[in-house]
Amino acid sequence: MEGTPLEGHSLGLLPWFMAATQILGLTAVIMTGVWLGHYEGGFAWDGSSLELNVHPLCMVIGMIFLYGDAILVYRVFKNESKTTVKILHAAIHLTALVAAIVGLLAVFGYHAAQNIPNMYSLHSWCGLITVILFCTQWVMGLMFFLFPGSTYALRACYRPLHEYFGLGLFILAIGTALMGITEKLLFSIRDTYSKFVPQGILANALGLVLVSFGITVGYIVTRSEWRRVTNPEEEALSMHFKTLTEGDSPDSPQGQ
Ligand code: HEM
Repeated sequence: MEGTPLEGHSLGLLPWFMAATQILGLTAVIMTGVWLGHYEGGFAWDGSSLELNVHPLCMVIGMIFLYGDAILVYRVFKNESKTTVKILHAAIHLTALVAAIVGLLAVFGYHAAQNIPNMYSLHSWCGLITVILFCTQWVMGLMFFLFPGSTYALRACYRPLHEYFGLGLFILAIGTALMGITEKLLFSIRDTYSKFVPQGILANALGLVLVSFGITVGYIVTRSEWRRVTNPEEEALSMHFKTLTEGDSPDSPQGQ
């Protein structure tokens, strides 16, 4: 399908937006490391507050940076085969999930060691909901898009839900992280936060970088002309599959 000259022009902008996401995502990870490493004493796995520090770092790496990158693979690898991109998408999500589990073990371990109750805050409620739905989304994605048993009709039916919840949970993860940042600052620098101390400014700036990362990823994935277009061979395979699985329309622009 031929695009308009304006669409062709906007296609050239995609690499710049992609570069922006990577700069923002890596900056968020570095800022989290500097905040907790420099101002909060560093990291350990000993039940102390240093174990709690592992939690935000793993969550920002897993639930935000890697999650965002997993969403973006369909826009980056436009010429790779559909199956390769699907496997990459699932593998980055799995890595994100492992990082999130380590992050959760760190905070639950810290609470157990310090006799602090679990799951009392809004942050923790939203956080657990995010992780549970993230796992559900991953398993459903695997069953519908990677296991051979699923029919074309089922995939086409489930795809909009998968995309909607994928982006929705990504937004929820960023909102949860913002609550976590504020909560941690109130634990650590309650008396000096209002005095614009460097730690408070750094952590607030981290929040803004996370929001900017989310907005940029969201913009890229919602631009229709930047979606992956199914190539003719894949289309032919889909058509063949369609006839085998009765009366479906292989008209997916993203072609999951
Ligand atoms: C999407 C990312 C995140 C998720 C899914 C998440 C999830 C959770 C969960 C489920 C708990 C409860 C643990 C328990 O009750 O034992 C928790 C606690 C905590 N989190 Fe996060 N978290 C995330 C990011 C962050 C970030 C970026 C920070 C920033 C510093 C943070 C700071 C904290 C703190 C201080 C606690 C202990 C207090 C509490 O239970 O609310 N979290 N988190």
